[in-house]
Amino acid sequence: EEYKSEIAAFTAENADSLEAFRIKWLGTKGLVKATMGEMKNVPNDQKKEFGQTLNAFKLFAEEKFDTEKQKIEASAEAEVFGSIDWSLPGEPEFIGTRHPISLVRNKVVDIFKRLGFAEAEGPEVEDDWHNFGALNLPPDHPARDMQDTFYVNQDPTWILRTHTSNVQIREMEKGKLPIRLIMPGRVYRNETISARAHCFFHQVEGLYIAENVSFADLKQTLYFFVKEFFNQDVKIRFRPSYFPFTEPSAEMDISCQICGGKGCNVCKHTGWVEILGCGMVHPNVLENCGIDSTKYTGFAFGMGLERLTMLKYQVKDLRLFSENDVRFLKQFEGAL
Ligand code: PHE
Repeated sequence: EEYKSEIAAFTAENADSLEAFRIKWLGTKGLVKATMGEMKNVPNDQKKEFGQTLNAFKLFAEEKFDTEKQKIEASAEAEVFGSIDWSLPGEPEFIGTRHPISLVRNKVVDIFKRLGFAEAEGPEVEDDWHNFGALNLPPDHPARDMQDTFYVNQDPTWILRTHTSNVQIREMEKGKLPIRLIMPGRVYRNETISARAHCFFHQVEGLYIAENVSFADLKQTLYFFVKEFFNQDVKIRFRPSYFPFTEPSAEMDISCQICGGKGCNVCKHTGWVEILGCGMVHPNVLENCGIDSTKYTGFAFGMGLERLTMLKYQVKDLRLFSENDVRFLKQFEGAL
């Protein structure tokens, strides 16, 4: 009981006095151990009771130690906290930036949203019908070779989509008209990786289907887009082209005024650079999706985001987009 009241009266002023307490009572040569040693002198019939009393005493000392330890730790913490000048500005922390492809993707989608287009997405792992069949490319169609396809587990049922045109089909199948959609996404092609090509890249697909949609609407829409995207009156030109899912089809070029020959590595020496494929949605495609092609017409386009980004920021090597080098990515801090 004497020991107990001595312990109860103890308060640790600092870490040293707490340590002294620990050594005195709980250490290997401490008093708690010493009282335990008395056990051998206790008659057998009292050993049980004595043992219980000693155990309670040991717990009592340990609990006191824990409470005092917590008190000391809390006051040390408060001391540090109190010595900090919270009004000082923090150390700047680099929290990362948006990826240039994301910046451009968002910008493209925003421009089309202002024209009344809504955003939609579709699957990257696709079946043959949605990537090819419904787009007027039957199994033996030679145009399938235009895009080198990755198959999932060598099984022809599932492929990695070669373009975002699959989302056109998925949206048309829903049967709600008119349709005015902008559809960004990642696509895959089995191509040799170089400064200008990769086995995966990003596209944005556009689709507008209603009554009386014309090629003039397509031209004006795309013209508006490039002017907004590059913040200048960019010259455009359309060249006749071929896609099985559009008729007529065209490719749109923009004038190399964009990079002023500074070298985006995508301009060829003609003064023009191709940025997208487009055309009027082929009647077969509309019918494949259950849309009456005598009543509705529409236009579609698809463009590569990597190329747009290279043009906008004069990026010379497309591989930079997937290497995740912060020295490259950091340069887009605050861009757009
Ligand atoms: N899907 C075509 C491609 O990847 C682009 C395109 C989309 C062309 C829509 C016309 C209409 O090359």
